[in-house]
Amino acid sequence: MKYINFTTPIYYTNGEPHIGHTYTTFLADMYKKYYQLLGYEARLGTGTDEHGLKILKTANSKGITPIELVDNLSNVFQNYWKWLGVSYDDFIRTTESRHEAVAQEFWKILQDKGDIYIGEYDGLYCVACEQYYKESELLPGNICPIHEKKCDHLKEESYFFKLSKYQDKLINYIKENPNFIRPLNRRNEILGFLETEKLQDISISRKSFDWGIPVPSDHSHVMYVWFDALINYVSSLGGTHSRDFDHYWKNTYHFIGKDILRFHAVYWPAMLMALNLPLPKAIVAHGWWNIADKKISKSSQKQTGTIAEICDIVTKDGLRFYLTSDLSLERDGNFDIDNVIQVINSNLSNNLGNLFNRIIVLSKKYFNGILDYPCNEIETEWDIKIREHAETLKAEYVKNMSEFRHCDAINNVMQYCNLLNVYITDLEPWKLIKDPANERLVKKVLVNIAEGLRWVANLGYPFFPKISEQMNVALYQQEQFAIPEKFDTSTKIVQSTDILFKRIDISK
Ligand code: ME8
Ligand code: MG
Repeated sequence: MKYINFTTPIYYTNGEPHIGHTYTTFLADMYKKYYQLLGYEARLGTGTDEHGLKILKTANSKGITPIELVDNLSNVFQNYWKWLGVSYDDFIRTTESRHEAVAQEFWKILQDKGDIYIGEYDGLYCVACEQYYKESELLPGNICPIHEKKCDHLKEESYFFKLSKYQDKLINYIKENPNFIRPLNRRNEILGFLETEKLQDISISRKSFDWGIPVPSDHSHVMYVWFDALINYVSSLGGTHSRDFDHYWKNTYHFIGKDILRFHAVYWPAMLMALNLPLPKAIVAHGWWNIADKKISKSSQKQTGTIAEICDIVTKDGLRFYLTSDLSLERDGNFDIDNVIQVINSNLSNNLGNLFNRIIVLSKKYFNGILDYPCNEIETEWDIKIREHAETLKAEYVKNMSEFRHCDAINNVMQYCNLLNVYITDLEPWKLIKDPANERLVKKVLVNIAEGLRWVANLGYPFFPKISEQMNVALYQQEQFAIPEKFDTSTKIVQSTDILFKRIDISK
């Protein structure tokens, strides 16, 4: 068995999920589904990050206890992913004892090794980022560049992790493993950072509040939220002595937004090196969805509407398709609902949906749904074209997906769909059928397109699973989705079904 593991960041439980969280989670779920097509035992882990000052302050401002806040919002996240059809295998909460145990175990190992020491932190901190900043990284007036809020000045006793010790090891690792940080622009960013700045040891505990995992040897401190949060990726697998860790860890891909790249591409690998653990396979970072060039955040819902409202207009598969097909990893994009509707209409409704429904209707009308074309005849140019393009599509799609170019991959699928449309408008089977002598030819056209659509449904499955399921029921009744092996023109039994994707009325 081949194993592969995908993770999303564990999201802060200080507000409800928005487009940004949905994007990362869809991407990770999409790659999980893709590797399932390839026959892997593919896993997806997600969860919630429930400690730290930000959570504590949010709870205080609402007049509830932090545990009430995180219990409630963690449920919101879980229900939300289920509702959207995300097939996660584990949902970890950092307040669970299975997580706290691993965080404390790791702390002890690092302390015994001498990689944790006590000192004093004196510097700036953004509570919204839960991140320490140097003055040079901030906007004038010590304003955080992401949240545009003033940073706090902190001065307190703190434990430190000897990050500086791992600088050269990190540089070497990233150079020897060019695909460890993806895509290339992010790798270059991190390598540039590591090669020009001297790494400082990082503060990994807090003394002025107690909403966190207690430091094992000193209960007057709690762990810094990021120290415990990163460890979720191991505790979710059941710690380092579990079967899941053996199976999945070395083939783990962390999907994250570029806002938390340094934590994942510098701090986390250094922690793992210090623990003598293997590193995950790769850190895959994506850009931001913006509204009017400003990063979408918890406060953007007024502009975008809630996800439920968006899905009401564009459907869940529509939103998933848009988010996973329209923005390559390297880029940031503007989320504009008119554009979303246009992209979805032209791809899912016009290109795919209309063709699919046409095939269903014609097959039912002329052949009672039975497409039993004998395939031992000489192939025409069109037959060859449709079959050969399916093969080319598969090769390109697989290559693109394996390189994390999912936009190109789904574009390959939609282009093939386009070719099937050219084929049907070129041959006009609804006209041909008027002459009974053309019956076999018409049947052949329908078989070819139905089979072409089987490839579209299978390869498109990670991007629009519900649509693929409906196509499967109506057209070919496969037991599970997979990368098609050969262009199969054997008998197809076509069932009636609803409109695959209703055109969205933009005025709505
Ligand atoms: O950072 N565009 O949690 P968080 C794209 N708890 N992606 C976005 C986005 C946007 N506008 N806004 C958020 C944390 N995201 C930590 C993570 S992991 C050990 C701990 C996505 O709730 C993106 O994946 O602030 C980003 O990295 C993540 O949400 C941050 O979620
Ligand atoms: Mg954030």
